[in-house]
Amino acid sequence: MGVLALPLDMNTQIETLTSYPISGLSGEMLIPSDKSISHRALILGGMAIGQTKVSGLLMGADVLSTLKAMRSLGVNITADAGSITIDGVGSGGFIPPNAPLDLGNAGTGVRLLMGAVAGQPISAMFTGDASLKKRPMKRITDPLAMMGAQIAFTQEGDEKGYLPVTITGAQPPLPLSYEMPVASAQIKSAILFAALNARGKTIVTEPHLSRDHSEMMLSHFGVGLSREMLKDGRHRITLEGEVDLHAKDIFVPRDPSSAAFAIVAALITDGSHITLPGISLNPQRTGLITTLKEMGGNIVIENKRIEGGEDVGDISVKSGPLYGIEVPAERVASMIDEYPILSVAASCARGKTYMPGIAELRVKETDRISVMTEGLKACGVEVSETRDSMTVIGASTIKGGAKIASQHDHRIAMSFLVLGMVAQNPVIMLDVATISTSFPDFAKIMNKGGAQLEIGYEM
Ligand code: S3P
Repeated sequence: MGVLALPLDMNTQIETLTSYPISGLSGEMLIPSDKSISHRALILGGMAIGQTKVSGLLMGADVLSTLKAMRSLGVNITADAGSITIDGVGSGGFIPPNAPLDLGNAGTGVRLLMGAVAGQPISAMFTGDASLKKRPMKRITDPLAMMGAQIAFTQEGDEKGYLPVTITGAQPPLPLSYEMPVASAQIKSAILFAALNARGKTIVTEPHLSRDHSEMMLSHFGVGLSREMLKDGRHRITLEGEVDLHAKDIFVPRDPSSAAFAIVAALITDGSHITLPGISLNPQRTGLITTLKEMGGNIVIENKRIEGGEDVGDISVKSGPLYGIEVPAERVASMIDEYPILSVAASCARGKTYMPGIAELRVKETDRISVMTEGLKACGVEVSETRDSMTVIGASTIKGGAKIASQHDHRIAMSFLVLGMVAQNPVIMLDVATISTSFPDFAKIMNKGGAQLEIGYEM
């Protein structure tokens, strides 16, 4: 068993990709592992008692940032062929890191770790790259402060709470009853991770059920928590601390949010037929598939099974006409990361697609409503935005021919590269290095299936 090297894949060296029109995608595509589950496996595996083996951890830059941070907190992590081994230190066993924890571009990594640290008797400073330093952290630190953690932002007086921030864990944390203002798996997970060391019942209520990987993994590690869907659609979790986590092996399925780019690419490029084996079908992650099917998308799920406690299946996609729809606002939490690529599908659909209730997109890696709207307009698509919605009018031809900056947002970069596959003129995407945060080898995998993504661009 060797020490895990932290390979930065080829994509991180590439700044620009050009996507040329193609005549269809085919074959089997092996999508990388799930990012959400990978972050949680590292953090909760590190907080468990005993050794956890994780098969299929995503080797993307975001997850590697979390891995490095866990090592700085005193957790020993080693790699073997195809799996990693975590020597858990228990839920109160972190050591104070001797340097700030730099989570790079990883919003999930930083927020979940803030919760884990807030429940332990140590101090740690959290920081990140330029994009992460512009994302709101008060939504996480406010409830953690109510649990007794001390929060010190470096930039005084900023209202949203931007990194860097130093968190000193409460000794011990107080149990909390908290009504979340938005359905966010990151907020709920941070509170639950801090609550592991709080004596008594912590109750978290979210306005809609968001992805529940934390709840499922906590149960997997033997933590008793109860869950309740309330009549008005809210979701409530009760966790009784103090409680130990008991190490147990984890299998990470392939990421539906990464599969989304291949699915839409195959639907909109004529003559396509692809298969994507082993994709996570957690019901809180499949909103895009439901939506694309409602739009007429030819998507078939086969061989449904449970792997590592999560729903998994093989997805087969054939190209065909799509039709504009109104996407129900209640579905937002189950496809929060998929709106950029949905807006690309909508650009090729017949008629209007209306996407309401998506204000949260403005606080992701970029303001995804505004960056998608501007980029689609530059490619000749009719699109408009309000504070919390987007409307796209589909067309049978997309002009393309634009040079678009991703603003260092992986999902924006991949979305426009997919649009380039059906546009009349190539789409040039700048700042593509961050694709490696979630989808290492995106260009290689898509090109093997028939895409034409080329490094650089011609003047
Ligand atoms: C994630 C939750 C979502 C999502 C993010 C991953 C997670 O964020 O956008 O990419 O793994 O918990 P919010 O919980 O803030 O909606």
